[in-house]
Amino acid sequence: MKVNIRENYDAMSKSVSDQIINYINNKPESLLCLAGGDTPLKTFEYLVKADENKEVDFSKAKFVSLDEWVGLGSSTKGSCVETLYTHLYDKLSINVEKQVCFFDGLSEDLDKECKRVDEFIGGSNGIDICLLGIGMNGHLGFNEPNVDPELKCSVIPLDPVTKTVGAKYFDEDVNVTAGITVGLKHLLASKELILIANAEKKAEIVKKTIEGKITIEVPSTMARKNENSVIYLDEEAASKLEK
Ligand code: PGA
Repeated sequence: MKVNIRENYDAMSKSVSDQIINYINNKPESLLCLAGGDTPLKTFEYLVKADENKEVDFSKAKFVSLDEWVGLGSSTKGSCVETLYTHLYDKLSINVEKQVCFFDGLSEDLDKECKRVDEFIGGSNGIDICLLGIGMNGHLGFNEPNVDPELKCSVIPLDPVTKTVGAKYFDEDVNVTAGITVGLKHLLASKELILIANAEKKAEIVKKTIEGKITIEVPSTMARKNENSVIYLDEEAASKLEK
């Protein structure tokens, strides 16, 4: 896994945006898989700016969103769908109906949701470029510690750490116990796999991700199995690395 350390969150996000833009400019009909959460927000700002300045053309690309809290939908501020539409999809010059695929966390048939998203990914011959934040417990999407790495799209019970940390996204109390997510099987097969982390609070999990043993107990370590994986960090998140 390539490690790219930038001075701060802003510079890190610009570099990530540049890698994505470069990929799309080389292969406009790519499938992107993008995470919600806090870490990608500045990258999204740079992507929107580049789209406005016509430095990139997303009109032939497809987007699959990484995950959703089971039981939440777009009317809940802080849900994954709300975050991605508000900060990215609605601001890009794309046809969201045709180009974006999202899990419906409110669906009564979650297995069908998983199949629908599996088919969308399969129909594009897999994910081209994938952008993932790293959870405090090393989860990628809702691929929680000790998940089966062979899973495609799946419903996963939430790890206690995810439940606690997750409260930061919501203005109101939400009772979430599971997530629906693109599984590690798809994520690890991405043609380019980008992990991002910033701030001191991520320094410990970043150290484990890069220097720890590769183990499904820390799902982010599994990203090292992808030979085109890269992690972008700010200096604080990189502060506990040995080298
Ligand atoms: P964050 O979330 O970007 O809000 O830190 C990362 C994650 O839990 O996947």
